[in-house]
Amino acid sequence: MSSALLKGKKIAVFGVANKWSIAWAITQALSEAGAHIALTYIDERTEENVRTLAKTLPHHPLILPCDVTKDDQIDTVFSKIKHEFGELDGLIHAIAYARKEDLDGSFLKTSRAGFQEALDVSAYSLTALSRAAAPLMKGRDGCIVTLSFLGGWRVFPNYNVMGVAKAALETSVRYLAAELGTQRIRVNCISAGPINTLAARGISNFRTLLTQSAAKAPLQRNIEPAEVADTAVYLCSHLSRGVTGEILYVDAGYNIIGA
Ligand SMILES: NC(=O)c1ccc[n+]([C@@H]2O[C@H](COP(=O)([O-])OP(=O)(O)OC[C@H]3O[C@@H](n4cnc5c(N)ncnc54)[C@H](O)[C@@H]3O)[C@@H](O)[C@H]2O)c1
Repeated sequence: MSSALLKGKKIAVFGVANKWSIAWAITQALSEAGAHIALTYIDERTEENVRTLAKTLPHHPLILPCDVTKDDQIDTVFSKIKHEFGELDGLIHAIAYARKEDLDGSFLKTSRAGFQEALDVSAYSLTALSRAAAPLMKGRDGCIVTLSFLGGWRVFPNYNVMGVAKAALETSVRYLAAELGTQRIRVNCISAGPINTLAARGISNFRTLLTQSAAKAPLQRNIEPAEVADTAVYLCSHLSRGVTGEILYVDAGYNIIGA
């Protein structure tokens, strides 16, 4: 990756939990491409992981707490980013959550509270973070990138409420892209193939999903987090300046297969 592609760009990454997080692969790739990074973590337990990982980056990132269900924490994060960075060029949203019991078996039994929680964390947070980030992106051709899965479009066993959340997320991408385009801010989504991460392990029988995807995908394999990360670099760079409101599949081609 050319270290000039994102030289001097300031990008906030939400969603690093550990070294397996897709957000961590993205952080490494953005950083290699020359970006300055702000990293957020959900809680104290995660903070330690994030601080340890951050030490391996070429430039020490800004590190801030943010639970995206808390509006006051979102406000604080962006006012600290404004204070430290002055402005922002990019926002990576790599966050999802659903209760374990809602990622197993019957979709019909999804509780109202579980539904609301999954949609709040996994879909609404993109709008909340975009609203807070947009003023810092003024005049900077900003980019916002989120992560989805094909389960927001087609049915996968046990993906259940997360599929509904991803459908809401992908539709949010289009509405946000339409509105923020007037400020020259682009909003795009990477629909990634299955990757073995903490969030993925919450889905019952996730290993079967990995095996079946690799068997059916045109490239006959699963994808690497680095492949998603390189696509995020593209979406944050001038190379994608004409692209907004898109769902880009990085799934070894799995989504095109009918049977
Ligand atoms: N792993 C896969 O197979 C796969 C495939 C396609 C899309 N995705 C998506 O990629 C994104 C990143 O997930 P991942 O697979 O890297 O797993 P991960 O567990 O490493 O990341 C999920 C992140 O969400 C954060 N999070 C959850 N609730 C939060 C809250 N209230 N406030 C702030 N942060 C919160 C967690 O702390 C964690 O950092 C998710 O949107 C996921 O749905 C994953």
